[in-house]
Amino acid sequence: MKSKFQPDEYGYFGQFGGAYIPELLYPNVKEIEDNYIQIIESDEFQKEYKSLLKDYVGRPSPLYYAKRLSSKYGAHIYLKREDLNHTGAHKVNNTIGQILIAKKLGKTQIIAETGAGQHGVATATVCALMGLNCTVFMGETDIKRQAPNVARMKMLGAKVVPATSGSKTLKDATNEAIRYWIQNPHTFYLIGSVVGPHPHPDMVARLQAVISEEMKWQLKEKTGKENPDTIIACVGGGSNAAGAFYHYMDDEEVELIAVEAAGLGVNSGESAATSQLGEVGIIHGSKTILMQDEYGQIVEPYSISAGLDYPGVGPLHAFLFESGRAKFMNATDKEALTAAYELTKIEGIIPALETAHALAVLPKLVFDKDQVVVINLSGRGDKDLETFIKHLEE
Ligand SMILES: Cc1ncc(COP(=O)(O)O)c(C=O)c1O
Repeated sequence: MKSKFQPDEYGYFGQFGGAYIPELLYPNVKEIEDNYIQIIESDEFQKEYKSLLKDYVGRPSPLYYAKRLSSKYGAHIYLKREDLNHTGAHKVNNTIGQILIAKKLGKTQIIAETGAGQHGVATATVCALMGLNCTVFMGETDIKRQAPNVARMKMLGAKVVPATSGSKTLKDATNEAIRYWIQNPHTFYLIGSVVGPHPHPDMVARLQAVISEEMKWQLKEKTGKENPDTIIACVGGGSNAAGAFYHYMDDEEVELIAVEAAGLGVNSGESAATSQLGEVGIIHGSKTILMQDEYGQIVEPYSISAGLDYPGVGPLHAFLFESGRAKFMNATDKEALTAAYELTKIEGIIPALETAHALAVLPKLVFDKDQVVVINLSGRGDKDLETFIKHLEE
């Protein structure tokens, strides 16, 4: 039986999703829609995708029992180590998959948007691997705050195009990528999260589903049971959360916690806590929940974390929120920084700023001593060292 958390034939999760695109993009999006499931499910794709995930990315990513973190919070806390993937985050699971789809469809020009730069690096990496042309759109603000990743993209041969409108962050980079795509419809838009027009949210979720696929057998090995009690993941567009939740969404007894960025505070006017502040609207080709004013204009988001600094969430997450299947929480910049310092100090792992938001809800939750909790450690903090050091010295 089909899961209610998979989209219907028009790409809707409940009332959210669809493909709100200009006429010019229709043939391009339709080509992907008509082919993506067949390609992903083919033996040829699975063989190449699984082999690259194993030998190139380094999967399976470990499921690490964080002993000191567990004893501090009084639960059994496991970290799904996506930070140990090649390129340093979960983003590469998706880019490996999409580049194989692009190749199958005969595409040679790849474009992408990026916020934290992790998706940009993961896209530039797979383009180098396959010998394809890569252009990455990135907000000017993010180019400054995620400089190490900009250098990596350039080293990998990608062209980095600054987005200079709005808050010069992820939303603006996505606008530029879509604008370019409309003008150059032969390009393949390798989207970095479970956002955009159908079938992109579903395609990206399927490619990130490897995270929870591995969690099942890893938990079985370590705890004797496939299911944890709780899974916690941060949400920008929602791809790492979609991957960590994917094989558990129909298992109502597994608690799913999605953590958004509250910036300076949910009601401070400087926030990216979409589910708390947003209403139904259309952004980047899909109907979802987004932060907007009374005239339907997008409210500029804010977060210290470039990857969570986005005014919407993907349609799957809008549905998980509206249906109550996932619990939505949030963490401020300060709480995220504190959580990053704590993980570094007691486990010797420096998380990405995005990931730190997921860790930051631990003090807000009450655990049973036998509770098994998995936190999706979506990325490593190398790119954020300057921010961490600056705030440490304050
Ligand atoms: C390490 C890391 N985690 C999380 C995210 C947020 O994206 P998503 O919600 O699609 O997982 C990003 C985005 O750049 C990231 O780099």
